[in-house]
Amino acid sequence: MKVEELKNKFVEVYGEGEISGFFSPGRVNLIGEHTDYNGGFVFPCALSFGTYCLVRKNNENVFRFASLNVENSEELTLDKLTTPLDKGNWVNYPLGTIAQFVKSGHEINAGVDFLFYGNVPNGAGLSSSASLEIATAVAVNDLFGFGVDQVDLVKMGQKAEHEFAGVNCGIMDQFASGMGAADSAIFLNCDTLEYELVPVKLDGVKIVISNTNSPHSLGSGEYNERVAQCQAAVEALKPYTKINQLADISWDEFKKLEDKIEDETVRRRARHVVSEIERTVEAVDALKAGNLEVFGKLMNASHDSLRDDYEVTGNELDAMVEEARKIEGVIGSRMTGGGFGGSTVSLVKDEAVDDFIQQVGANYKKRTYINPEFYVAEIGQGGHKIF
Ligand code: GLA
Repeated sequence: MKVEELKNKFVEVYGEGEISGFFSPGRVNLIGEHTDYNGGFVFPCALSFGTYCLVRKNNENVFRFASLNVENSEELTLDKLTTPLDKGNWVNYPLGTIAQFVKSGHEINAGVDFLFYGNVPNGAGLSSSASLEIATAVAVNDLFGFGVDQVDLVKMGQKAEHEFAGVNCGIMDQFASGMGAADSAIFLNCDTLEYELVPVKLDGVKIVISNTNSPHSLGSGEYNERVAQCQAAVEALKPYTKINQLADISWDEFKKLEDKIEDETVRRRARHVVSEIERTVEAVDALKAGNLEVFGKLMNASHDSLRDDYEVTGNELDAMVEEARKIEGVIGSRMTGGGFGGSTVSLVKDEAVDDFIQQVGANYKKRTYINPEFYVAEIGQGGHKIF
């Protein structure tokens, strides 16, 4: 949808007047999965699709939320800005973000009309919710002139997810949505939040996202269960080494100590995380050296570890990856995001992209009876004002 159309829709819903517009992207993670809440490394990039947020202050001391994607809209008085709505209500994402401004002492002294439009496919594991949070954060920050730093806006988005959606997520999605830069992936240390923008110059290769159309749902509790299992692994290792989070232990040391983790499932969860952190560092080195073959192998190893040790893939993601790897010209393929459905990310040589979409699409459908969708990723810019 074009910006002009969005403005017209805003006028249809709220009437004439000055409007400001903001955009914040979804993300695809190239490697470094389920490492962020363990203080490890991730390597996501912001996409060119995301959430648009159009806003205007009103004189009625109410916050109104409407979306072009969902029917349900809400109107809340200023004293209701820190109270979550019913579980499952999409307004919890923007509201949870606004609540962080209030809670951190920023005075909201006027009502606002919001109109959202997102073109990140919902449930595709491409962070539609983070893009909604960061679009809101950037808009409110600008509208009230709060001057909050972009990284702090990112943290507010993450808190919204914890407090208003009940998902104890790491910082990756909001960070990618807030801090992404065109044609770059973000090599982020999720412990210190130090980061490096690494140019993604893939000569003759495309990043292809395959949406299984099997919606992932982080609210399912499995995500929080993984977070808790990682904490259990840290507790089990504490008597033997100095450790506060799984990122504190190297792969070599982990191999020596892993038998100390008695619970076999918890041990496998930790094995994924510690090995994935190492793979992420190696993958970034490989990309910088222009060695896409190595990068692709590490992507494959990442998926296999998420499938066997972390157990967050499931039939659809595994089928999509298996079919992708059969195509000549595929350099690497793995699930991306939280898992349990959602999307995969593959590096595909230019000349193989059409075959990839056609053959992987047909074979995936044969196996799962679901129609997949494919997108050739364009790496976009993090949350910003558009007008
Ligand atoms: C979800 C979470 C992120 C991250 C990924 C897995 O997208 O929101 O914080 O943990 O899963 O890497």
